[in-house]
Amino acid sequence: MKIAITGKGGVGKTTFAAIISRLYAEEGYKVLAVDADPDENLALALGFPQNLIDEIVPISEMKNLVAERTKSSPGTFGKMFKINPKVDDIPERYCKEYNGVKVLTMGTVDTGGSGCICPENVLLKRLTSHLILQNKDIVIMDMEAGIEHLGRGTAEGVDAFIVVVEPGIRSIQTYKYVKKLAKDIGIEKVFVVANKIKNEDDEDYIMKNIDREVYLGSMHYSEDVGNSDRVNKSPYECKNTLEEIKVIKNKLANIAF
Ligand SMILES: Nc1ncnc2c1ncn2[C@@H]1O[C@H](COP(=O)(O)OP(=O)(O)OP(=O)(O)O)[C@@H](O)[C@H]1O
Ligand SMILES: [Mg+2]
Repeated sequence: MKIAITGKGGVGKTTFAAIISRLYAEEGYKVLAVDADPDENLALALGFPQNLIDEIVPISEMKNLVAERTKSSPGTFGKMFKINPKVDDIPERYCKEYNGVKVLTMGTVDTGGSGCICPENVLLKRLTSHLILQNKDIVIMDMEAGIEHLGRGTAEGVDAFIVVVEPGIRSIQTYKYVKKLAKDIGIEKVFVVANKIKNEDDEDYIMKNIDREVYLGSMHYSEDVGNSDRVNKSPYECKNTLEEIKVIKNKLANIAF
């Protein structure tokens, strides 16, 4: 099962991805959490200690690995290289594990415009589409905000998108874009999780603007979650939000898989 967590910037993708990853791990699943946001902070949200975070080198920055696998020379551009590099051993070899969750940090590629075909990009895309083949259990991908980067390359092989929304038209708009895009690339399952809900009006607003059957549940606005970020604690420690995500996870199991 490979789930990509998407949504507008700042809606709570990383918070949700971190908590649900730890819940699956606690249940005994083998969980690979993929940080696919160039602004990497998933390991932090998962509660990784700083010394382990300091050891993380994003895949795109492993110049020798990129060169070896794509048969290119580091830093070259426009030269010949392999477009089907071997990637199947990468998740196991280059992830970091803590609290039972393995994290693979993808990093970013300075494309200088979209659609760059450079060795780093080819490796990342192939790695993304092969993640599930190696990891039989659960892959949770914490995606970059917005939809520009979502496409056949990065979203290939995903079983479901979970779009995190908050009570506001912009995040709903992002949900609608993701829904359309998912359809275009043949992904049928697109679910919604509402976050930062403060009252009934907020909940009503969300329900009015999404398709009821794709709604997985809500997380309320929580001082505890906000504080955990400030003091660099994992939001997993926030009991109320944790309970809300357990409900969401059950609903997902019931309607998606
Ligand atoms: N339910 C909540 N209650 C209060 N604060 C929250 C809640 N969920 C998330 N936050 C806070 O909102 C901020 C953004 O959350 P998070 O980093 O999870 O969002 P994101 O969608 O991953 O953002 P980005 O688009 O930058 O990757 C963080 O400071 C987080 O602590
Ligand atoms: Mg994030």
